[in-house]
Amino acid sequence: MTHILAIDQGTTSTRAILFDAQMRAVGTAQMEFTQHFPQEGWVEHDPEEIWESTLKVCRDVMAAQGVSASQIAGIGITNQRETTVVWDRATGRPVHNAIVWQDRRTAGICERFRSAGCEDDVTAQTGLLLDPYFSGTKVKWLLDTLPGARDRAEAGELLFGTIDSFLIWRLTEGRVHATDATNAARTLLFDIHDGTWSAEICDLLDVPMEMLPEVRDCAADFGHTTLLGGEIPILGVAGDQQAATMGQACFRPGMMKSTYGTGCFALLNTGTTPVESQNRLLTTVAYQLDGQRSYALEGSIFIAGAAVQWLRDGLGIIENAAQSGELAAQADPTQKVVLVPAFTGLGAPYWQPDCRGAIFGLTRNSGRPEIARAALESIAYQTRDLWQAMQGDWGSDAHVILRVDGGMSASDWAMQGLADLLGAPVDRPVMQETTALGAAWLAGMRAGVYPDQAGFAETWALDRRFEPAMPADARDAAYARWQRAVQAAMAF
Ligand code: G3P
Repeated sequence: MTHILAIDQGTTSTRAILFDAQMRAVGTAQMEFTQHFPQEGWVEHDPEEIWESTLKVCRDVMAAQGVSASQIAGIGITNQRETTVVWDRATGRPVHNAIVWQDRRTAGICERFRSAGCEDDVTAQTGLLLDPYFSGTKVKWLLDTLPGARDRAEAGELLFGTIDSFLIWRLTEGRVHATDATNAARTLLFDIHDGTWSAEICDLLDVPMEMLPEVRDCAADFGHTTLLGGEIPILGVAGDQQAATMGQACFRPGMMKSTYGTGCFALLNTGTTPVESQNRLLTTVAYQLDGQRSYALEGSIFIAGAAVQWLRDGLGIIENAAQSGELAAQADPTQKVVLVPAFTGLGAPYWQPDCRGAIFGLTRNSGRPEIARAALESIAYQTRDLWQAMQGDWGSDAHVILRVDGGMSASDWAMQGLADLLGAPVDRPVMQETTALGAAWLAGMRAGVYPDQAGFAETWALDRRFEPAMPADARDAAYARWQRAVQAAMAF
């Protein structure tokens, strides 16, 4: 058996990537699916469409590469995290659309529990905040809203899962109801310290524990599927940001990865002891291997690549994302235009859902190049916010290694700007498919066809290191401008 099949079920598309015995991605199939916005602030996916897209991309990539089930040693699943599905154990049919991580409908529930003084206790156990982002209040909303649902859940008739769990259930045709520790850690129901579901929080949110999946290691036996033309075991599972952390081989404490997609998610490996954030970062499970959990501090930025999309689709000042760096490079260096891209609020470390975007420092001479530069710089400034918060929590003089991936990391201009504003080197790997690679590695390692952790870490190869070139006083002045701009935007 020569191949590993990685399934990357993301927020806007489902992908299947085939890896060969040398861990090279040899084929990809991708399919977008429908985003449902039933009300302002609500975001849903149809789990049946997610399932169909998953089967289709797996079959397509296998057919395109001429690889049969008997040549695949294992499947690794990685997925959009927190998105919540509740389905009927007997029929496998979801009782409602999936409620997506971006969905804000449970803001009121969160606020009620916060006002009742519950947040500190929830944070102490889960490492998370009382925010609609996480699954727990979404399950509560479903059970509160759908007639008879809570009784059925108590009777063991309804099951809850994040997308990995739902796909495992479908792939194994209802034989396995399981998840991994990284996905469990995003539900707001999981005690990250002892690695079990929290009876206390389930009680608080009135979520029957009968409906929760069994939590396993990231590299473990998750059953097998016979739906792809033969029997293939499912051997690896991790949430997408954790899979990227492993794909970037950030296995040592002090190693951090930052993935630039629509938003940006940064995870800093803090080792086997969870670090409680004093700066409103999340504490989460980075991975669990051989029963041993490693932890991470996580910061999420909602608008990263989306700022470049705004230049293209909102303002129409570029035709494609690649032009943003060229345009920004033409900006007048004496102008100090700052964009706060709080189009959907601000994430970590501010957590201001109601803040909106703002632009400062315009003159009569400000034009397309200056706006483009401000948009790209806003991504670097936000990364610096996370970087500072992490250094604050982790120990400010600690040496942190930053590895980048995702669409925008391809831009030399943006990555040099990032190194300049951080005042620290930024490492870009040769292999950019880090999320899929992380999932494939888990399955391949478990199957015995890929190297162990240390061997895998040795295969990580540097494409380019960006060294900071900006003088410290200019860097500090630029960052101080950004901080003033954020404060002004939040006060507006
Ligand atoms: O926490 C949400 C995150 O896992 C979503 O990632 O890449 O699907 O937008 P992505």
